[in-house]
Amino acid sequence: MRRRHFEALKPVCPRCRVGDGVVVPIALTTVLHEADGDVLEGVLSCTRPECQLEFPIIDGAPILVPDMRGFVSQAMLPLLARDDLSEATEGLIGDCAGPGSAFDTMRQHLSLYAWDHYADLDPQEPAPAEHGPRPGGARASLAAGLSLLGGGIAGPAIDLGCATGRLAFELAARTDDLVLGIDLNVAMIRLARRVLSTGRVDYPRRRVGVVYDRRSFDMAGEAADRIDFWVADVLALPFADAPFGLVAATNLIDCIAAPAALPGVAAGLLRPGGGAVFTTPYDWSPSATAVEGWIGGHSQRGALLGASEPLMTALLTPGAHPQSVEGLRLVGEHPGVSWQLRLHDRATMHYAVHVLAARAEV
Ligand SMILES: C[S@@+](CC[C@H](N)C(=O)[O-])C[C@H]1O[C@@H](n2cnc3c(N)ncnc32)[C@H](O)[C@@H]1O
Repeated sequence: MRRRHFEALKPVCPRCRVGDGVVVPIALTTVLHEADGDVLEGVLSCTRPECQLEFPIIDGAPILVPDMRGFVSQAMLPLLARDDLSEATEGLIGDCAGPGSAFDTMRQHLSLYAWDHYADLDPQEPAPAEHGPRPGGARASLAAGLSLLGGGIAGPAIDLGCATGRLAFELAARTDDLVLGIDLNVAMIRLARRVLSTGRVDYPRRRVGVVYDRRSFDMAGEAADRIDFWVADVLALPFADAPFGLVAATNLIDCIAAPAALPGVAAGLLRPGGGAVFTTPYDWSPSATAVEGWIGGHSQRGALLGASEPLMTALLTPGAHPQSVEGLRLVGEHPGVSWQLRLHDRATMHYAVHVLAARAEV
């Protein structure tokens, strides 16, 4: 955790904010390892005597979630995972753990997102075949949203659901200010943090079944010292005021329990005049969101015939829907940017993501 980000963004206790509706600063109470203003291991604590919740900083990433005990118990594997094993030993463990195991799911997620985010930089990555998969879809959808917004980014930027982190580098190239990526997935945040601290991308690229090839290559990330990655829940963020000039939420809204809340979350993070980019394939799944929480994708007897796009547009247009967000106004949309998630050598999911850009009222 970079001290610079901690001091500028002033995180507050997510448990006090979400549970009790009070804003309480967090203090850096223990530093166990630090290098160049980057706390690699330590403890943050809520300063409210009734709470005093402790938040660990592990591998440079603070974990700022309201239910620390529940989170640690479900994220034990990535929290304690080691990164010193050879590809051969990891493969053996992968064979034993088998498909569908927590270990395999972790590697599959890393493979999916690190490939889309970074494979363009990998000298070992084969050139895309004419109809083969192409990485970079998330970056392309962010770029489409930023161009709809027009102009630069004034103030810090936040990437909500940043996964393995490449979009933070894209944002850093477009602002002189700080950039923060947040995600609930510890393994992905760790990969992103490692890119910051080592300048190298290291990820398991799935070939077939439970066979993964280790890929390791340089990422000459410009402005890496202005970027940080934190583990946090977009629905229980550790921020009280509106410190950001830009909020990016690419391919996140159909992954969370309360999709209709996301525009309000973005509005609450933005300074007056700040911009927000939302992209989504509306790939609804009950494992992420109960059907009644989906934005469209059901109730085809209704006026919108079950469509997602007009409902999402209405949520970003004040007064257009009972759940429309106040203080954020849609400024443009793109009907479909290609986003490909490579499952393995012979399978790719190909989405066309709806891109929406909105601005906070001045
Ligand atoms: C479909 S991926 C998109 C990743 C990235 N934004 C991109 O476009 O490549 C969704 C990401 O959101 C994260 N996520 C899901 N629910 C979240 C939550 N409640 N808070 C923070 N991140 C969340 C997942 O861990 C995952 O990395």
